[in-house]
Amino acid sequence: MSLFKRKSVVSNETTKYGAKLITVRKPKSVIAEQFRTIRTNISFMGIDHPIKTFAFTSANISEGKSTVTDNIAVVAANAGKKVLLVDADLRRPTLHKTFNVPNQKGLTTILTSEAAEMDITDMIKETEVENLSILTSGPIPPNPAELLNSQRMQALIASMKDNYDVVILDVPPILAVSDTQALVSHLDGVVLVVKMGQTEKAGLKRSVELLKLAHANILGYIMNDVDRNGDAGYGYGYGYGYGYGYSSESK
Ligand SMILES: Nc1ncnc2c1ncn2[C@@H]1O[C@H](COP(=O)(O)OP(=O)(O)OP(=O)(O)O)[C@@H](O)[C@H]1O
Ligand SMILES: [Mg+2]
Repeated sequence: MSLFKRKSVVSNETTKYGAKLITVRKPKSVIAEQFRTIRTNISFMGIDHPIKTFAFTSANISEGKSTVTDNIAVVAANAGKKVLLVDADLRRPTLHKTFNVPNQKGLTTILTSEAAEMDITDMIKETEVENLSILTSGPIPPNPAELLNSQRMQALIASMKDNYDVVILDVPPILAVSDTQALVSHLDGVVLVVKMGQTEKAGLKRSVELLKLAHANILGYIMNDVDRNGDAGYGYGYGYGYGYGYSSESK
């Protein structure tokens, strides 16, 4: 199967039921081990400037961002880091479903509050995973890009960074909306999730361009669904560099 075959497969499974936490259900599986390797590789990218805040994005919807984001947060917490996982996908939020918690309040409540001081402790929830706290999206707003691009969001990221070892954000895809572009320049890094057989080469190329325009620190890419060899059909590989989508064919 070609890596860049054109195929649009949109799934609403995670928005309805949450992402599958294979790292919680099967911590000894090959897939969980792959997630641990990916996390280690990301931390290696920050030898001089530790990568404390990062996000996974993709060209389009349904390429595995939430699944990767949530499982990486779990393995980072398992490694003893104090982790905050934030649902900043204000269009297709999933985190409240994944951890089965209410979502009446969350990130959007903080961003739209008129109070000068931001008290985020009320909004943050502990999870069954030791060291892992979550901030769900809150009610879906009409103006996600504006909220994520606000000074308040920047201040919030800075404050989260002070209070946690690692802050991981679930964000929307880069091509569809401008939310992610607004956000990534304020993070220490971003990783592109590429779904085998689904992500188109041109879309990937444009995603990298947009991330560069936004002054994002692109840490690498994750090949999702790499090898369907039995274990729930999941497979992940982590790669460095992002020039592989640039062959002459795509021009
Ligand atoms: N490696 C994989 N193998 C098989 N299925 C996968 C894999 N990764 C993700 N999926 C499935 O693909 C669908 C989309 O995954 P997910 O919701 O994590 O993507 P997303 O990029 O966050 O989507 P959205 O754009 O809606 O936020 C889900 O049904 C998920 O279970
Ligand atoms: Mg998602």
